[in-house]
Amino acid sequence: MPNVVVVGAQWGDEGKGKIVDLLTQDADVVVRFQGGNNAGHTLVVGGEKTVLHLIPAGILHPGKFCVIGNGVVADPSVLVMEIERLKAKGAFQDDGQLVVSLDAHVIMPWHKAIDVAREQAAGEGKIGTTGRGIGPTYEDKVARRGLRVRDLLDEARLARKVKERCPAAREELKRLGATSDLDEAAIVKQYAEYGRRIARYATDVSLWLHRALRAGKSLLFEGAQGTMLDVDHGTYPFVTSSNTVAGNAVVGCGLGPKAVDYVLGISKAYSTRVGGGPYPTELKDEVGERLRKIGNEFGATTGRPRRTGWLDALALRYAARVNGLDALALTKLDVLTGFEKIRIAVGYDIGGKVLDEMPSDPELLERAKAVYEDLPGWSETLDHLRTWDDLPAKARAYVKRVEELVGELERTLRAQGARILASAPVLVPPRADPRDVPSVRDDMAAHLRLFRSGGA
Ligand code: IMO
Ligand code: MG
Repeated sequence: MPNVVVVGAQWGDEGKGKIVDLLTQDADVVVRFQGGNNAGHTLVVGGEKTVLHLIPAGILHPGKFCVIGNGVVADPSVLVMEIERLKAKGAFQDDGQLVVSLDAHVIMPWHKAIDVAREQAAGEGKIGTTGRGIGPTYEDKVARRGLRVRDLLDEARLARKVKERCPAAREELKRLGATSDLDEAAIVKQYAEYGRRIARYATDVSLWLHRALRAGKSLLFEGAQGTMLDVDHGTYPFVTSSNTVAGNAVVGCGLGPKAVDYVLGISKAYSTRVGGGPYPTELKDEVGERLRKIGNEFGATTGRPRRTGWLDALALRYAARVNGLDALALTKLDVLTGFEKIRIAVGYDIGGKVLDEMPSDPELLERAKAVYEDLPGWSETLDHLRTWDDLPAKARAYVKRVEELVGELERTLRAQGARILASAPVLVPPRADPRDVPSVRDDMAAHLRLFRSGGA
């Protein structure tokens, strides 16, 4: 398989994990390059539901390698807990399967405390973060005062850095009106212990990946969050603190841009968002409630009910542009079964002026009213669907229309001579295991073959 980047094309929770699981069968190495345990991926291990937040699910497959790159912010307590849980279930027998960057920044107790305290202090204007300390850890990274995995491996160095950092963290917590019980000695002891547990996995990831590539291994880059949550390209400031777009895949693990062969975006057949921020197609009525209920739209990380709405073609087209998508996979199409009419936003009405591309000013987005195109719904269940032709005609028409609306961009790029290889959405019926659905595998394989043969 060529090296594929999988990214969310919306606000996260698109079902990336499902597609990554599917593609993992044909890849050798799964690489996380940004985010941390703000991500959540529910899977079933030995008949039991498990949620992984940091380690890619590929760890469940013997012989596959999982890499946590330098661009990830890793909470050592979560990493150790996930390792132990997996081992307790009899999975992850071979320690060689997990590779953690020495340069990944670590989430420390003060980062989590500051994240939570800041949100509490912000009241109405809060971002609605996951409270995992993601933002404060990335802040320290950019401010050049962060701690990295390598610092956990040397207790003296760890003690020095904790001592350096704690006074300012205490001050900040006090300013935010939070009680701070940062016990430096206890933190050093605990985190040095995490360091000892992580040491066997920690390495120079750039070099490790470089050698893997030279040995002919194929890489699967697993994005977390989604394009609209990207710190540069999302609905700033209602975003996460990392670059979630495909371009960051190589930066977050120490490779060059040519390591990526193929970029696959994932979108639900409708939309959801967790936390605050603009969301033009949000439904605050019984239709939105119905999507939440049928789609089981509750956060895997925080359990919060997700905001729900119709699909936004402007957001998708934007995602296609900023990620350079080669293809878009559409998930959870079956959730739309039974809706009499299905809407797709094709424009934004902002003060009487209708835009057909995403405005670059998120404050405009706040005022945008979605302009919809309506398509007829279908009533047939998609549960046992196996091929594209099995789909009800109206469901096919819906997917085709999405393809057209997103494909506009593809045509533009093609005219400019860009190598856009396939724009057809890959169809994934959500409640079926995608591995059981030959059409999905075949579609995906066809796209990838298309790439391999250099054709477009
Ligand atoms: P996956 O990988 C959905 C959202 C939070 C909040 C904003 C900032 O499962 O798609 P943060 O804790 O990152 O500082 O929060 O980003 N958010 C997600 N929403 N899915 C995710 O991950 C998310 N990770 C962060 O709700 O609005
Ligand atoms: Mg999530």
